[in-house]
Amino acid sequence: MLEIINLTKRFGGLEALSGLNATVEEGELLGLIGPNGSGKTTLFNCVSGVLPPTEGRIRFMGEDVTGRKPWETARRGIARSYQIVRPFANMTVLENVMAGAFCRESRYSEAQKAAEGILETLGLSEKAPLLAKSLNLGERKKLEIGKALATKPRLLLLDEVMAGLNPSEVAEMAEIVRGLNRGGITVVMIEHIMEAITSLCERLIALNFGKLIKEGPTRQVIRDPSVAEAYFGKGN
Ligand SMILES: Nc1ncnc2c1ncn2[C@@H]1O[C@H](COP(=O)(O)OP(=O)(O)OP(=O)(O)O)[C@@H](O)[C@H]1O
Ligand SMILES: [Mg+2]
Repeated sequence: MLEIINLTKRFGGLEALSGLNATVEEGELLGLIGPNGSGKTTLFNCVSGVLPPTEGRIRFMGEDVTGRKPWETARRGIARSYQIVRPFANMTVLENVMAGAFCRESRYSEAQKAAEGILETLGLSEKAPLLAKSLNLGERKKLEIGKALATKPRLLLLDEVMAGLNPSEVAEMAEIVRGLNRGGITVVMIEHIMEAITSLCERLIALNFGKLIKEGPTRQVIRDPSVAEAYFGKGN
């Protein structure tokens, strides 16, 4: 479904992604791991079109989408959440999700209907009329997913949607992500919470310094010495 070919992203002298090659299969729930600063979010930024890559290509459903703008990738079926959630604070929860729905639907009533359905799935229906700024972090993370879902993605990129949540919120979020994947959405999730990763993902890609260091079945990757070394340093 997604092919990352020799992808490099430089910020001045810093190479955040360095000749990365990776693929995502349709239907899978893939985990993307790696220590802080290893290039995970940068990869999402390049795939979703928030940042143009410096070199390399990105293919989605057989089409070259390298350098496409976010609204173009969204139309093609790629949606992403942001690590730092920033809802439209002074719009209601419902309106936030409707903003995403207008990617596919120009009629107000239809966008509203779609957004209501998504809030229901996320357990946020009661919050629909509230201003987004009144939500707590767990609710904001869900809203972030709601905005992305409203664009009707085939591929959903989730950037640390569980970070900062308490254990029961993490469990709830895991169920949401699992449900979306079972419903037919291909998911790539960046996550540091290993319990969530191991329970949700069959396959992992591990990055370090913008390079793929290990890829394969989840348990193999997390037990790999090079992955432990990337996280904790040598000798651990
Ligand atoms: N817009 C930018 N301008 C300059 N440098 C950037 C930019 N975005 C990311 N970087 C740098 O690129 C490197 C990779 O950052 P990135 O955010 O992709 O890491 P990450 O793997 O998502 O880390 P974390 O787990 O902390 O979220 C870091 O050194 C970061 O400081
Ligand atoms: Mg990040």
